[in-house]
Amino acid sequence: MVGLAAQVRSVWRGRAKKRTNESTAEAHTGERPIVVRRMGFPFQKGLPRWWFGENVFLTHLINGLNFVFPEGERFFIRSVRVFEEQIKDEGLRQRVRLFFGQESQHQVEHLHAFEILEQQGFEIQSFLAWYKDLAYKKLEVRMSPLMRLSITAALEHFTAIFGDFVLRSDFLQDAHPIMRDLLFWHAAEEIEHKSVTFDVLQSVDPRYRVRLAGFAIATLTLFFFWMAGTRHLLKQESPEIRNASHADYLNFFFREAPRIVLDGLDYLRFDFHPDNEDNYQLARDYLEKIGRLGM
Ligand SMILES: [Fe+2]
Ligand SMILES: [Fe+2]
Repeated sequence: MVGLAAQVRSVWRGRAKKRTNESTAEAHTGERPIVVRRMGFPFQKGLPRWWFGENVFLTHLINGLNFVFPEGERFFIRSVRVFEEQIKDEGLRQRVRLFFGQESQHQVEHLHAFEILEQQGFEIQSFLAWYKDLAYKKLEVRMSPLMRLSITAALEHFTAIFGDFVLRSDFLQDAHPIMRDLLFWHAAEEIEHKSVTFDVLQSVDPRYRVRLAGFAIATLTLFFFWMAGTRHLLKQESPEIRNASHADYLNFFFREAPRIVLDGLDYLRFDFHPDNEDNYQLARDYLEKIGRLGM
């Protein structure tokens, strides 16, 4: 993982500085278009086993993140749908429907990445079954609908941060083009709809402690399941490769992950709103470049 730590750090610092400069950016809630796009990435062409520049750790770090997406996105949709009828603002209701459409398409594409892993010989079903059972059958059912919504809004904050990071940096430059295109598209759409669930939460229950509790649970569960997925895949590599990746794993877990969480802490500012950081142009520029801005 040569240079990754330094790269992540410099981009993250740049983000923090930029945010300070843009803190007075005017919010334009609801005026940002959200477009549902059907992409159809050519996964049938297959991917190299270590598709991230031959880097085993980075490949499985992102594969591990892929693991949590489809079920996570189903959870987002379920959590918001419960409150759909309570949303009075027609504009927000429309944005919610488009948010459902985008998250549904993300699931479709990320599920293809699962098929690729199985074709490559990885055993993934035991992890997926464990994750589904623990996260959604045991934990989700113990949360109130309001807390599920608050967790969803916090997770959407993290996906928007990741989206900003990958679009702003050259982090994905060594990734295989299919995965790079998948992640760039997902990143851009996460920015496009980043304020939807936050606005739903604010309209349903704007209490700060609800937001705080959702953020705490979202942070713990996101990193727990993400790291578990990465470990599950690394464990299936040869002992030499596994051992060589161990330091990268620890470095990410103890150095980079806390930095990501620290960067996410602006969510806890009393006056936080996703639109306070106006990075919509970043998403638009990418979508325009691939000819998919309005379609
Ligand atoms: Fe998504
Ligand atoms: Fe999202």
